[in-house]
Amino acid sequence: MKRIEQTSLLAAICLGLALCSTACKEQSEAPKPPPAQPLNPTEAGDAPEPPPPSDAKPPPKEAPVPAAAEPGDPETGRADYQIFCASCHGPTGDGDGAVAQGLEPKPARHSDGAYMNSLSHDDLFQVIKFGGLSVGKSPLMAPWGGALSDQQIENVIAFMRTLADPPYQP
Ligand code: HEC
Repeated sequence: MKRIEQTSLLAAICLGLALCSTACKEQSEAPKPPPAQPLNPTEAGDAPEPPPPSDAKPPPKEAPVPAAAEPGDPETGRADYQIFCASCHGPTGDGDGAVAQGLEPKPARHSDGAYMNSLSHDDLFQVIKFGGLSVGKSPLMAPWGGALSDQQIENVIAFMRTLADPPYQP
């Protein structure tokens, strides 16, 4: 009896295995989740290629700023003066610009040599670049350092010197 039992048990196991393997095979052949695709989005070809790093060059160095600006050029300064200063100080520095009437204190008369010639280059540079407040004067005289480069200020100063009467003696 034992033998028969063993045999039938074996048979049962075999049958079971066979069935199972078929079933399992079917199961294993059941639709698998599709492979994630595209595996890599860049392989789809629509992602822009980053430029090769070898192309990256250091930004061009700016020309070294000279410690002291070039001497001002009055003719170049005339243009900036008309744009930035004439509305208050007047086209010829008479303090009669279109905006001047409403201002108190009045814009300085750059044609007034008696006063203007007493101001040194550094006095002028200071008040033009950093504004009236920086020298204890009216904030109506704005700081121009944001709008004008040091060289432009030098040019404007050179032009202002040509306006003075009596003439400015360096
Ligand atoms: C919005 C009007 C206005 C504009 C624009 C203006 N200024 Fe003035 N500026 C004044 C006023 C007002 C004063 C007088 C300040 C005071 O006496 O307190 C003055 C004074 C000055 C003085 C005399 C400072 C001193 O020590 O007495 C200089 C120099 C000057 N301005 C240069 C310039 C230059 C250069 C520009 C153009 C880049 C300019 N200003 C543009 C209003 C202006």
